[in-house]
Amino acid sequence: PSSEEQAILEAHQWLTKLYHHLLRHTKDGKQALAYLHDRGFSDEVINLFQIGFSPLSRDFVAQFLEKKGFHKQVMVNAGLLTTNGNGEYFDRFQGRVIFPIRNPIGKTIGFGGRTITDQEPKYLNSPESSLFRKSNLLYNFDIARSEIRKKGEAILFEGYADVIAAHQAGVLNGVASLGTSLTETHASLLRRYVDTVLVCYDADNAGLSATYKAIKLLKKVGCTIKVAALPYKYDPDQFIQEFGEVKFRTQVIEVANTEMSFIMKFLKKDFNLNLEGDRLHYVEKVIEEIALLHSSVERDYYLRELADEFKLSYDALTQELMSQMRNVQ
Ligand code: CTP
Ligand code: MN
Ligand code: MN
Ligand code: MN
Ligand code: MN
Repeated sequence: PSSEEQAILEAHQWLTKLYHHLLRHTKDGKQALAYLHDRGFSDEVINLFQIGFSPLSRDFVAQFLEKKGFHKQVMVNAGLLTTNGNGEYFDRFQGRVIFPIRNPIGKTIGFGGRTITDQEPKYLNSPESSLFRKSNLLYNFDIARSEIRKKGEAILFEGYADVIAAHQAGVLNGVASLGTSLTETHASLLRRYVDTVLVCYDADNAGLSATYKAIKLLKKVGCTIKVAALPYKYDPDQFIQEFGEVKFRTQVIEVANTEMSFIMKFLKKDFNLNLEGDRLHYVEKVIEEIALLHSSVERDYYLRELADEFKLSYDALTQELMSQMRNVQ
């Protein structure tokens, strides 16, 4: 790394400590700490994930970084400060709860700052840079790695809060793609460590669409996929808060479905199954998906399920599947 990158890395480690200290031990941090406790985060995970607070000040962090000898313009390049171009420098994350984002060896390389007063955006993140690329970074991979190896399975969440709440609930193999866009780089990264990925995105419309896309990407790199069973509109963190850790483990994670049962449900939303034409079209769509399954036992299983559900002849569906599979090849 260049000396500028080295300085940026060092500044991130200092700020991780500073933000965390401000949250834990100062009057300024009290409201933020209460916010986190209200959300159900324990002191143990607040410490483990080094959650912090950036005070509601124009230049508290700017002054801290200057005292430590960092060049302010470099800190602007790093996305830690902003400037108005008149030689004035301001804190980027004023008044926000800070989630440090760590690289695979546990060094902070970016921050996610959450508003505690309903400001827009909800999360302000570090900007993309050569050190911080969201598209090839999985949040919490450093902490989760050993558990991921041990289980042979990784759980994929959307956000910081989900990973942390899951960890607190004893689910230690969670990582997040920071938003809903999993990339092929993320998928390949996971594939190097595991056979199975359990997708546990938010069960809102954005999250369900993202789940469908994630399934496609994960399949492409050869993963076995499971999909968590969250009630509609819930995200994992909300579920844990409302129904508790035990139900999260036993009714969401442990009973995760195969990707086909997710897909069959997901594709239904585009059709009005009271209409004959839509029903047939839906059945065709599902058969297209079944044709992509690698195992003949699986193909047979879902074909029978489909035949049963729509009172169709299994033989006719098999013929349709055969012709679809010829198309695929
Ligand atoms: N995100 C972001 N910027 C936003 C909204 C979301 O970067 N304006 C990213 C964050 O990494 C966030 C993830 O997308 O954790 C998932 O978004 P969302 O479901 O909206 O947030 P939650 O993780 O549920 O956050 P919270 O529980 O704190 O509301
Ligand atoms: Mn979401
Ligand atoms: Mn969410
Ligand atoms: Mn949430
Ligand atoms: Mn058609």
